[in-house]
Amino acid sequence: MSEPSAPPPTYWDYLRLDRLLDLQDGLGNQDTLISSDELHFIIVHQVYELWFKLALAEIRLARNHLASPRVPEASIPYVVHHLRRINEILRLAVDQFRLMETLTPQDFLDFRDKLTPSSGFQSFQMREVEILLGLEDSQREIYGTVHPLDHIRKLADRSPAGALAWGRIEAARGELTLRAAMHDWLHRTPIQGSTPENPDDHAVVEAFIAEYLAAGAPRRAAQLEKLIAAGSGTREALTERFAANDEASRAFLRADGVPEPQRARVTRIRAAVLFIESYRDLPLLAWPRLLLDTVVELEELLILWRTRHARMVERTIGRRVGTGGSSGVDYLDKTTRYRIFHELWAVRTLLSPRAALPALKNEGRYGFAE
Ligand code: HEM
Repeated sequence: MSEPSAPPPTYWDYLRLDRLLDLQDGLGNQDTLISSDELHFIIVHQVYELWFKLALAEIRLARNHLASPRVPEASIPYVVHHLRRINEILRLAVDQFRLMETLTPQDFLDFRDKLTPSSGFQSFQMREVEILLGLEDSQREIYGTVHPLDHIRKLADRSPAGALAWGRIEAARGELTLRAAMHDWLHRTPIQGSTPENPDDHAVVEAFIAEYLAAGAPRRAAQLEKLIAAGSGTREALTERFAANDEASRAFLRADGVPEPQRARVTRIRAAVLFIESYRDLPLLAWPRLLLDTVVELEELLILWRTRHARMVERTIGRRVGTGGSSGVDYLDKTTRYRIFHELWAVRTLLSPRAALPALKNEGRYGFAE
């Protein structure tokens, strides 16, 4: 006798709605026993965690494409595709704080004590997002004596969910980050047609940097004179400011602050970003340039998320201590200074217009006839 076939799936089975809708009771056993404000608070947080889950999957997919030892041109649109989905999630996540803000400050106080000392500070998925993008431990703000990751590690053995939280963070720390994968890819980018395998590559990169800075000099000098003529500052002060800017650009491209063993590699990566941003009209650089721009947009949206969260928090609880024990808004505002992809931002300070670019060499490598 043949087995009876499984019934066709229903909407509620496929989406596990029986389980999903039974998870909003907030440490109790029935969501009808909590206030509508607390139900709202729980659901908004859970929806955020679901978006974080999807964002994590997309970060890994984008990272995997870039992690290949040779990234085919045809893969770049896929990287951009995954990054764009993350960006749309973040855009929605920024906007979603409007919904959170329908919780009035006083109504929140009715159940806030019940949460202490739990906090979004323990959102291990947010920590995974940060880690997988490439935020370093040393870049994190510490409040009091608490390092954000240690805080989760110390709580981990208290419950199965805690073990899950720390296990996920540890696993993420062992993975290649999007930043590292992107750097490997940038490091191989042809600059003036030269790649790292070329024995003269170092000289080609150095010459490109020197020519780039020199080609932009007349424009900067003209801008300086214009500002002096317009009375925007004294000659001395403005000259000093321009010179400091020039020096910062040179130091950035030569990776002055980077320890010697990595300096040449970092210089090459930074020069590659500058090259891609500058010669983006070349057919083979159009997608790489879009990729870099989408990463900048991602980081911009993450900063906006942090800023928007901090303003929502200030509106709801003022400047009091957070349920997680931090200085609250002060701590959150400091996290808005995090930059993971800082070289992508930094290059924008020294970019020149098309008319002031050094002559392109080996155009054929980028899809134009030589
Ligand atoms: C009334 C609503 C909310 C208030 C008053 C609030 C307050 C706070 C405060 C004060 C902190 C700092 C840590 C602490 O001392 O607790 C924090 C951190 C955090 N919150 Fe919220 N929050 C709210 C809603 C949300 C929502 C809806 C999310 C979405 C997941 C969220 C995610 C986070 C995250 C990820 C952190 C860690 C930030 C970091 O360390 O970089 N929060 N929150």
